[in-house]
Amino acid sequence: MKGIILAGGQATRLQPLTLVTNKHLLPVYDKPMIYYPLQTLVDAGIKDIMVISGKGHAGHFLELLRSGSDFGVRLSYGVQEEAGGIAQALALCEDFADRDSVAVILGDNIFENNVAETAVKDFEKQKKGAKIFLKEVHDPERFGVAEISGEKILGIEEKPKKPKSLLAVVGLYMYDEQVWDVVKTLKPSGRGELEITDVNNYYIDQGTMTYEVLDGQWTDAGTFESLYRANKIIAEKKGSKK
Ligand code: G1P
Repeated sequence: MKGIILAGGQATRLQPLTLVTNKHLLPVYDKPMIYYPLQTLVDAGIKDIMVISGKGHAGHFLELLRSGSDFGVRLSYGVQEEAGGIAQALALCEDFADRDSVAVILGDNIFENNVAETAVKDFEKQKKGAKIFLKEVHDPERFGVAEISGEKILGIEEKPKKPKSLLAVVGLYMYDEQVWDVVKTLKPSGRGELEITDVNNYYIDQGTMTYEVLDGQWTDAGTFESLYRANKIIAEKKGSKK
């Protein structure tokens, strides 16, 4: 399995912090934000990882993370020329993946626990389809929201006005090689982006999507409130280790 970190986008909600730098380079407690999703993939035993960033700051990611040898992995880099959505950024990784399955993580997603290790093993047993992770949140309308019935996931709505549950779809996804055909069929959403939720709904309709509800804290870091929460999760985790 290969790893992909998506670190594009304008992060306008974090201005002025993001006027001259990229969101994923901002500090989260004692490290640049992108270290955390990278470590999540490293902890899962993934050795080949591609980082997609937006134009303007791509060189900074290369300078910061270099070959990946500091983390014991091999890094590749790609540039998303325009902000066309998560699924558009993902589509840039087809040659890198080389028909292998992929674990995709959003560059601003911070997990308290080591989630990916067992998840990768479970997904490899699953052989076909996709896997997503859900977390109960107080503000589901900010996220992709899943509707579930027992073991089965019925569908996902992206940023619904009237969420059907409190279960947010977190920014860690596992896909088999069908994903490259799926991303080619996507049409831009109302916000003009190729949505990862449309990719996930394809697998749900096909009946090959599995899910897990995360234990441990999780947050994205795309707003001031969530960036603050990300800092708190890491600070508390470090504090408890002292
Ligand atoms: C994206 C996805 C959304 C997901 C979220 C997790 O939203 O579109 O489905 O729940 O990441 O962080 P964004 O925050 O990029 O708008």
